[in-house]
Amino acid sequence: MTALSAAASPLDAAAKRNIIAVASGKGGVGKTWLSITLAHALAKAGRRTLLFDGDLGLANVDVQLGVTPRRDLGSVLAGQATMAQAVARYADGGFDILAGRSGSGSLASLPAARLAGLRSDLHLLAQDYDWVVLDLGAGIERAVRVLVGHSRTCLVVATDEPTSITDAYAFIKVTALDRLSEDIRIVVNMASGTRDGERTYGTLRKACREFLKLEPPLAGIVRRDDHVKDSIRRQTSLLTRHPNSEAALDVEAIAKQFAEPS
Ligand SMILES: Nc1ncnc2c1ncn2[C@@H]1O[C@H](COP(=O)(O)OP(=O)(O)OP(=O)(O)O)[C@@H](O)[C@H]1O
Ligand SMILES: [Mg+2]
Repeated sequence: MTALSAAASPLDAAAKRNIIAVASGKGGVGKTWLSITLAHALAKAGRRTLLFDGDLGLANVDVQLGVTPRRDLGSVLAGQATMAQAVARYADGGFDILAGRSGSGSLASLPAARLAGLRSDLHLLAQDYDWVVLDLGAGIERAVRVLVGHSRTCLVVATDEPTSITDAYAFIKVTALDRLSEDIRIVVNMASGTRDGERTYGTLRKACREFLKLEPPLAGIVRRDDHVKDSIRRQTSLLTRHPNSEAALDVEAIAKQFAEPS
């Protein structure tokens, strides 16, 4: 356990109730797209939702949605704005965004004290929302661990590629061994069909059961769907552009699990 996650305050405990971290081992498995679509689905269900771009090195929530917020996490880190001031409204989706800023440095390089400050600010901000969806960078660097450690649920995204499965397993292992999240759930993305998705989940679950004595539940299977690429190309949320597409329905089914924060 890291020194930072050990120093949990009552504020951290409160925030644990409504932060959903979206993580993976391998990059490019659809975390950012899933975070956006999940945030939109929660907003559609009437929840006050904030999408937080926690991947500062390669931030691209704003790129996928075609928005250019006046302020972002880069402004917060530079001391030019408070976190609350850096929140922007994404009116099309009915949710708020705290954008990252690509190239403004990685969260990984932040001194521990700054990272802890950022985390406390996030927890304060989270109190204004029903749900905060936290899009994380790939891998298991320190900043990812600190943020996952203060989430209510960690959705680990994997695809059927062997490297994605082994990297998701490695991520789950560290997360479980360090007791960073008690609620780890798996999302299989870009599945060619439900059966293929179940097979991918089964492989991952088997490894977790055998080696970690852990069986993370399946949060959902999201099918591979060309509408996803189309909506990203057009910088529009899938739920706006293709609300009845397979991938949209799959993410809405995942969002139903998070209808009511406890
Ligand atoms: N269900 C899907 N069907 C088809 N294509 C998809 C699906 N999900 C994601 N993609 C494609 O995968 C690409 C990568 O997605 P995204 O940028 O969200 O991944 P990421 O995990 O956030 O990557 P990184 O690790 O670099 O942050 C998207 O541009 C999109 O084209
Ligand atoms: Mg991403």
